[in-house]
Order: sequence, then C-alpha cells, then structure tokens
Amino acid sequence: MAARRSRIRGVGSHVPERVVTNEELTQWMDTSDEWIRQRSGIETRHWVDGATSTSDLALEASHRALRAAGIEAGDLDMIVLGTLSPDHDFPGTACYLQAKLGVPGIAAIDVRQQCTGFLYALSIADQFIRSGHSQRILVVGAEVHSKSMDISTEGRDISVLFGDGAGAVILEGCDLRDPATDPHILSTHLHADGNFAEALCMKAPQTAVEGPRITHEMIDAKEHYPQMNGKLVFLHASKRMPESVHEACEANEIEVGEVDLFLFHQANLRINQQVAKQLGVDDSKVFNTVQRFGNTTAATIPLGMHEAIKAGVLKPGMLVMLSAFGSGFTWGSALLRY
Ligand code: ACO
Repeated sequence: MAARRSRIRGVGSHVPERVVTNEELTQWMDTSDEWIRQRSGIETRHWVDGATSTSDLALEASHRALRAAGIEAGDLDMIVLGTLSPDHDFPGTACYLQAKLGVPGIAAIDVRQQCTGFLYALSIADQFIRSGHSQRILVVGAEVHSKSMDISTEGRDISVLFGDGAGAVILEGCDLRDPATDPHILSTHLHADGNFAEALCMKAPQTAVEGPRITHEMIDAKEHYPQMNGKLVFLHASKRMPESVHEACEANEIEVGEVDLFLFHQANLRINQQVAKQLGVDDSKVFNTVQRFGNTTAATIPLGMHEAIKAGVLKPGMLVMLSAFGSGFTWGSALLRY
C-alpha cells in the first residue's frame, strides 16, 4: 500500500508596497548603509502603512498560494500560522485569517516559535496529514515587525534587521508511490532550548511580575520592544542550522551534496554564508532574500520559496532543504521533494 504523505501544492507570498532603504533609517537613528550591509547583507526591507495587520499580509499570501494550487479556501480543512507579531495577544491570528478567508468552522492553530515558526507549522501540518486527520492545510508565516521596533539609536542593533511580509503554502495529502521522484515532505526535525529564552525576547506584556501584565514603567523601560544578544544568536545559529541539516540528511540516508537547493531562514547573510561554508555547500545552492526583505521571521522560508519559484530557481523534482534558527532558542530542518 502506498504511504500517506504530504506535498506542497501551491506557494504564495506578499510584502507591503513601501520599501525602506538603509539610507532612510538614518533619519531616525545613528546608523549607516555601510554598517548594515557589512554586518547583515540587508539593503532594503518592506514596512506596512496605516492599519495593515499581520493577518492582512497573511490573507494576501494565502490567496496567492490558493491560486497557485488551483483550489478555493473552501477546500481547506485547517490553517496553521506562525507569527511572533500577532494581530492581538488573543485570539490567535489564524482565527482572524480564517474569518478573512471566509471559511468558518475549520481548525485554526497559531504557532509561536519565532524564526523557526514556519518549520514548526509545516511539521504540525505534515503530521496531521500523515495521520489521515486532514487533507489540505494552509501553512502560513506572517509578520508585521515595523510596529513593534525601537527605531531610535537605542534600538538600532535590532530594528535595522527586520521587515514585514508573509508567505504561505498549501500542503496536501498524497499517496507516495515512488519516493525518489514523487513530490513530498521526506521528514521534519524540530528542536528548542528554553535556557536561552532571554537571549532574544520581548519582555512585556508579561505575567512574570506582580500586578498588571503591562505598565507605564515597562513601556518607559522599553520592555515592549525586542531585545537581543546578537553575538550569542549568531554563534548558536551558525552551529545549530548545519547540525539540523546533517540530522535531516542522516534520517533520509542522503549526502548533503545530493540536496539541490537550500532555503535557510533569512536573519543575516553572514549567518547563511557561515552555515553554507560549514556544510561544504556552494553559495549558488543557497537562495537568499534577506538583502531585499530583511528578516521577516516566520515568513522568510515560504517567502523565499515563492521568490525562488518566480526566479525559476526552484523547479519540480528538486530535493530541497529548509533550515531555521531563532528565538527560544528554537531550530530545525525539513527535507522535501518539490
Ligand atoms: N548601526 C550602526 N552601529 C550599530 C548598529 C547599527 N544599526 N547596531 C549596533 N551598532 C554598533 C554597536 O553599538 C557597537 O558599537 P560600539 O563598538 O561603539 O559599542 C558596534 O556597532 C558593534 O556592535 P556589535 O553588537 O558588536 O556588532 P556585531 O558585529 O555583533 O553585529 C549584529 C551585530 C548584526 C546584530 C550581529 O550580532 C548579528 O547579526 N547577530 C545575529 C542576530 C540576528 O541575526 N538576529 C536576528 C533575529 S534572530 C534570528 O532570526 C536568528
């Protein structure tokens, strides 16, 4: 009997129109195009205008993924959405997206695993399909960072790195007949180490204090903005991402060299160059988008996937490795045949 697996049937993405250059950032903070390019590779990022929310960006990316898959929102039986910048603390952003898609009744799950959010969401969706629970799942990564960053000089180490955007894939059940050629998710590998939670976090609102979750004092102390130990994040990302790639290769008994394309999380070009070097992978096999979009956290991988398809780089039949690292710390990988 053919094994039940999931495959990617459609991919879509969306970034807001407004492009913010490194030069533009210098009007709010003491920074420079040279510093940002040299340390991160980032040249531009997109920011939303007005009342655009995370679920608005997710909606547009989802419509594009649905169109690419040739199906309607009514054909979905679940939504799994990764974000660290939800529309509201609760309910989950997947619920807002579900309502905007006009499909009340189907399951809607939020995943809060930051830069590894899309990989966690993909893995959850893959398990629901493998088990026979679901047939078509919308998997989304979406972020609006521009509304929650300190764009003064004090916050420049973080705010120059992030952008807004969304990416979505339609994951569909399939009967696997030939694992060597049939498109499918081969495996997913997820990890976390909460001992490093404070190395990259946003402290407020919080319940770990006496009294209300958010106070004027917390805001005055800028605890509602993210804070990061950049060097520690860089160090761990450069180690954990290659580890997770090797883990996926070992689980599927393949060599790293057999992978056709690497879609890494887009935090920093320097991290990805370091990871490729450690893996002995030529830079031409790594598709980076951080230069144009900055770090869009849970959206980087599906956004990159869509850009790679549009650029003709990602083609049917390719063996594709996804890997990410982020706040938590969380990290992981996924191997798929596209
Ligand atoms: N513009 C100009 N100068 C800046 C800026 C800026 N935007 N930000 C910091 N600086 C200054 C610092 O104040 C410091 O000045 P000082 O030497 O006078 O004290 C100097 O530049 C060097 O700062 P460092 O923090 O040592 O710079 P570093 O080389 O570590 O680069 C960076 C910082 C780019 C954040 C790097 O550590 C990094 O990329 N870390 C990875 C973190 C990351 O990518 N996080 C994204 C989210 S997590 C994820 O998605 C994986």
